[in-house]
This record gives sequence, C-alpha cells and structure tokens, in this order.
Amino acid sequence: TQSAVGDLDLAGRHVVVSAGGTREKLDPVRFLGNRSSGRQGYALARAAAARGAEVTLVAANVTLPDPAGVKVVRVESTAELRDAVLTAAAGADAVVMAAAPADFRPVHRSDTKIKKSDDGSAPVISLEQNPDILKELSAHRPGAHTVVVGFAAETGDASGSVLDLARAKLARKGCDLLVVNDVGGGAVFGSDDNEAVILAADGTAVDVPRGSKGALAHVIWDQVSARLAPA
Ligand code: CTP
Ligand code: CA
Repeated sequence: TQSAVGDLDLAGRHVVVSAGGTREKLDPVRFLGNRSSGRQGYALARAAAARGAEVTLVAANVTLPDPAGVKVVRVESTAELRDAVLTAAAGADAVVMAAAPADFRPVHRSDTKIKKSDDGSAPVISLEQNPDILKELSAHRPGAHTVVVGFAAETGDASGSVLDLARAKLARKGCDLLVVNDVGGGAVFGSDDNEAVILAADGTAVDVPRGSKGALAHVIWDQVSARLAPA
C-alpha cells in the first residue's frame, strides 16, 4: 500500500491536521503545557500537501516554519484548538489529531501575576478537564465519510502493555486509526525519528519501523487514503 513519491492520491481532498501542544494560562506569565514539538503534525501536513491535498494545519505553540502550500491556523489553548479544528473540519475528508492538547485547565485564571508570600506557602491550583476533541470528532463526524485519526503516546503500566492500553484507547475514542508511539524510552519528544504501530478500528495493525517523521507521515496517509470514500 506504500505510495510512490509524486503520487497525487490526495488531490481534491481536504484534510485537517493538528500539531503542537496546547497551553493553559495560569496568569499573564505562566501556563500549564507539554513538550510536544509539533514536528510529527508538520510532517503530516507537508506529506499531505505533497500528495495533492488541500491542507489546514492547526498549530498550537509550534515554532517551526510554516510548510509551503498549507493553511496554518495558530492557537494556544485546548478550547481554541477545538474551535479551530471543528471549524476547519467541516466537510473534511480526514482529520488527524497529532496535537497534544492539555487535558486539564486551571479553574481560575488570574489576570495579574500570582505572587509568592513570605510565609513559604504555595498556592493550590484546581484543575478541570478540557473537552476531548478526538472523541467529539469521532462521535459527530464533520463530513459523511470523514476519516478520523488519533495519536497516543503510551508507556505501558501495571494495568496493561502499550498495545493493550492503545487498543482500549482506540475503542474509547471511537476514531478510525490510532497511531501509537511507545514512549517508555522517552526518545520521541523533539526527536527527528519516530517508530509506531497504526491500529485500526477494523482490527488491523501496521508496524512502522523506526524512521523519519516524514516517512511515518506517508504511511499514515497510505492508511487514511485506503479508507477514504471514492472521490
Ligand atoms: N485528544 C483530544 N482532545 C483532548 C485530549 C486528547 O483530541 N482533550 C487527542 C490527541 O490529539 C490524540 C488522542 O486524543 O490524538 C489521544 O491523546 P491522549 O493524550 O493519548 O489521550 P487521553 O484521552 O487524553 O488519555 P491520557 O489520559 O492517556 O492522556
Ligand atoms: Ca491526554
């Protein structure tokens, strides 16, 4: 199923890719965030554009240069990411959630800088859950045949192996494909390489050996392409 370089199999298709990590403001100078670099999402956007797709890239706090021929929408928080993705996804053929949305946001955001007190005490920060964009997209498809793809970085724990947890996550999210990275070694964030298993809701699994994020991006689009409704 590997597509040849120069194959325009996504011509006439509109795809949406999210990338980067969202930030939730605590006060004007502080945020809760994560270490997602946005590289995998940018590689996906670049690969889709090279295959002829019209691409909207929703980028959360990414410092990489805009990929050529791609519409980039910049966001900061998970709420903004949700709005931008849902807007861009209307009628889209595929949506790939490569972004790492902050799962929680502070219940209260201070308009002024939180100051420390002299007694050595520290503030207690209450959090609330953010909306789950992937779950929402999967439950309410933005187009009749939109293919929905999620990512999962798992370490495996006492409750199961990486693949057990990933299968459960795929079912919970309701998406068509879940791209699973084993981050037990901690080598994925900010790295140029990636290694993954692409799990499908139809039960298949495709192993993608260690390689560039661009190479993984093309295998993901191969899997998406195979599931698109006839043009
Ligand atoms: N995701 C999302 N909205 C969120 C959180 C996650 O759309 N609020 C998407 C991510 O972009 C990714 C997928 O869901 O494609 C899996 O993210 P992950 O953080 O692994 O899933 P969670 O359900 O947040 O589970 P965990 O408790 O393991 O973080
Ligand atoms: Ca999460």
